[in-house]
Amino acid sequence: MEGIFAGKTALVIGGTGGIGRALALRLGARGARVFVQGGSSQERLEGTVQAIRDAGGEAGGFLCDAGPESAARILDQAPPPDILVCAWGPYKRAPVERLTSRDWIFLTANNLALPGILISSVLEGMINKKWGRILLFGSTNTDAIRGFATTAAYSAAKTALGVVAKSVALTAGPHGVTCNVVCPGLTDTEYTDEAAGNYNRERSPGGIPLNADEIAEVAVEILEHPQVNGAIIPVDRGLRL
Ligand SMILES: NC(=O)c1ccc[n+]([C@@H]2O[C@H](COP(=O)([O-])OP(=O)(O)OC[C@H]3O[C@@H](n4cnc5c(N)ncnc54)[C@H](OP(=O)(O)O)[C@@H]3O)[C@@H](O)[C@H]2O)c1
Repeated sequence: MEGIFAGKTALVIGGTGGIGRALALRLGARGARVFVQGGSSQERLEGTVQAIRDAGGEAGGFLCDAGPESAARILDQAPPPDILVCAWGPYKRAPVERLTSRDWIFLTANNLALPGILISSVLEGMINKKWGRILLFGSTNTDAIRGFATTAAYSAAKTALGVVAKSVALTAGPHGVTCNVVCPGLTDTEYTDEAAGNYNRERSPGGIPLNADEIAEVAVEILEHPQVNGAIIPVDRGLRL
């Protein structure tokens, strides 16, 4: 397929559902050969790959229960990416005093170490090709250091992604590689349960949460524009939690 990403290979971690899926579809429609990684749903994996193909794009994918220790296994299942998107980002709501050591390790490992390890593994290839795009997903209001009443571990890891993006932009930017962070506002997806849906409505400006397409529309623009590098970009309609 023709398009701005024709000839490029994209790997979307968490690309079979939610915001990652919406972005994977857009990458496919812009000519990238897209590989999506999903967690456990074969149905969502097949549905996403088919949707990209139905739109005339090229796609493949696989399931893998992700984690820092599985980064090499993930990268073995797709060609070296020109475009790396780390969309999957698990969270847990609890006050700091209720977070267990397991919570801290799980949330920081999957929201910070996993993207970091994936980037460290693919960056040299991008630098050698003199072209690369990396997009990370922060969270609501993690574009600056702030306090969070119920998401300290998750939000700390998401905030730290800004350091990762700025570091990559600093050293690999001169070699044609960009790395940015999108910080979505409260976004309803197929994973949003009733409690989260209510929370999203109560807190979102005008009582209307964002949807995955609204985030992906901005995300793909960032990937298209190499002049955006090392940026931490809220896509949240001005929401302050
Ligand atoms: N939604 C929001 O309100 C919101 C707000 C702020 C920031 N964000 C951030 O935006 C990003 C995308 O969020 P999202 O809500 O669209 O969905 P998400 O739940 O973070 O990601 C869904 C994707 O991750 C896969 N996945 C689930 N469990 C997995 C596991 N154990 N190992 C590997 N992959 C797994 C899913 O596959 P299966 O379908 O097979 O499980 C699907 O492809 C995340 O980084 C999130 O933190 C979201």
